Amino acid sequence: MSTAAIDLLQQRYGLAAETRPAVITNAITTALFSHRSVRAYLDKPLPDNTLETLLAAAQSAASSSNLQPWSLLAVEDPERKARLAALAGNQTHIRQAPLFLVWLADFSRIQRQADQQGVELQALGYLDSFLVGSVDAALAAQNAVVAAESLGLGTVYIGALRNNLREVIEELHLPPLVYPVFGLTVGYPDPDKPTAIKPRLPQAVVLHRETYSAPATEAQSIQDYDRSIAAFYQQQGLASANWSSQTFQRLNKVAALHGRERIGQVLKEQQFDLL
Ligand SMILES: Cc1cc2nc3c(=O)[nH]c(=O)nc-3n(C[C@H](O)[C@H](O)[C@H](O)COP(=O)(O)O)c2cc1C
Repeated sequence: MSTAAIDLLQQRYGLAAETRPAVITNAITTALFSHRSVRAYLDKPLPDNTLETLLAAAQSAASSSNLQPWSLLAVEDPERKARLAALAGNQTHIRQAPLFLVWLADFSRIQRQADQQGVELQALGYLDSFLVGSVDAALAAQNAVVAAESLGLGTVYIGALRNNLREVIEELHLPPLVYPVFGLTVGYPDPDKPTAIKPRLPQAVVLHRETYSAPATEAQSIQDYDRSIAAFYQQQGLASANWSSQTFQRLNKVAALHGRERIGQVLKEQQFDLL
């Protein structure tokens, strides 16, 4: 393993050497291990053909039955970005990034073709179709993230775009059978506000072999991880205490959904029946 990879994995899994897995490294795995979200951007335009490049990477992802049930909506207009930022928890990086991508699960294109050809799509109303659209959009977006990082750009996903789903659907003129799975900011990272690799759970906690079995050491491993990530947050000057407390805070009260508790109703209004 190269020293660069050892260093990256130390950051990814915390400083305890025994939690650092042995891995195969090449240019792509090293790039993947280097990921970090970026929330501060330079006021600098993107290189020509960035959007087309990210979209080609996205369209190169696998697609369930090749349905390709997603679309990409690119927002560059500062006023529209500002309105979307306000709807998504006032996240400044949405305004700051030159490009804001909205990843849409989109069955409206297929429905239009079916309407033109007089075909009925009985399976469309089932939850599985909704999952297929959402999963495919996410796989596509992650390919775009990897491509963006390879170009020296930074990104951060914006799940908060679902906080005010109805208003976002109206702002973007989304027709029935389309919903925004999440947003993604794209821009040059501000070098004055560098980001670091955020540690993840140890592999022993995440990996099951053959059948599911939570390891006896799970609680201890998570306590160790909590210490690792607490040190990370402190280094970054962030207020979060550790992974467990942050995770519980995110899930223990409906209020933490910031409006996303209503998306089931809005999705039904968008004609996702979720049967
Ligand atoms: C679907 C999804 C939605 C997210 N939504 C937000 C968001 O609204 N705002 C934000 O600042 N980060 C958001 N994030 C970024 C995560 O907080 C981040 O990926 C996580 O803390 C791990 O950090 P890293 O990406 O730097 O490794 C989101 C990530 C994902 C995958």
